Amino acid sequence: MKIIRSIKKIQSLTKQLASEGTSIGLVPTMGFLHEGHLSIIKRALQKSDIVITTIFVNPTQFAQGEDLTTYPRDEKGDIQKIKDAGGQIVFIPKASDIYPNGYETYIEVESLTKILEGKSRPSHFKGVTTIVAKLFNMTRPDVVLFGLKDFQQATVLKKMTTDLNYPIKFIIAPTVREKDGLAMSSRNKYFSKSERPDALALIYALKAAKEMVKANITDCQRIQKEMQAVIKTTCKKARIEYIAFNDFNSLKPTDKVVKNTICSLAVKLYNVRLIDNMKLM
Ligand code: PAJ
Repeated sequence: MKIIRSIKKIQSLTKQLASEGTSIGLVPTMGFLHEGHLSIIKRALQKSDIVITTIFVNPTQFAQGEDLTTYPRDEKGDIQKIKDAGGQIVFIPKASDIYPNGYETYIEVESLTKILEGKSRPSHFKGVTTIVAKLFNMTRPDVVLFGLKDFQQATVLKKMTTDLNYPIKFIIAPTVREKDGLAMSSRNKYFSKSERPDALALIYALKAAKEMVKANITDCQRIQKEMQAVIKTTCKKARIEYIAFNDFNSLKPTDKVVKNTICSLAVKLYNVRLIDNMKLM
């Protein structure tokens, strides 16, 4: 497996691969890899000849006061996991190469980024779209894969890919969960053993919503109330940032669950901010 840290080297390698007709799959990550990431890498291997996994904790998508400096890192472990999954190339650029002094160019998707996560984290998506566009330019992939776990991120990046005419196939991979249902996340490690059961509040609430829809209850306000109750019962200290109902593709809010309605939520538990989502119909 090749480990590449230089932008020039990844550019010349991908240029060479493209000239040989080798198709490239790209899996961008911030590292501290878990089964969710690895499932995307494995899926990418089925979609392209060669998979480039990138590891880069992207400073521009963290606001001041967020966990940029404490974001968990394990480069050695990550490299081994990618190798075991069958990945052929890992690209680990330096922040000072990606954003050298005087850097001032950003990519922004305008309206899709103003709601949900964008409301709670106003500068977040601008950093995400900028780094992903830069990774597209550096690696020139044929296929790119993102996880449904961050569904708004996937929707925003898909829009950017279309709007900027990148000739890249865009795949959204399903959310991988722990056995008890908690969506895998690099941030789950912030929970102590005694706090960890409370993290199930999100999936319990989503499952309750799904059950209501199965019982033909489609009024979002009613479902939201029940979800709030489930969360508070699971964890008294939970602070709900939002519980929202949107169309999966346009992100348009809806007050009735219809086809393609996705329910997403952000909850703060013991200073750990978790997000999760589920398609309700
Ligand atoms: P990161 O949080 O490391 O996630 C990398 C990719 O893994 C994203 O596409 C994310 O949606 C996916 N992912 C995370 N948890 C998952 C799970 N439990 N099941 C399936 N997929 C999962 O998302 C980012 O990094 C960054 O914002 C990035 C896109 C790399 C830009 O910096």
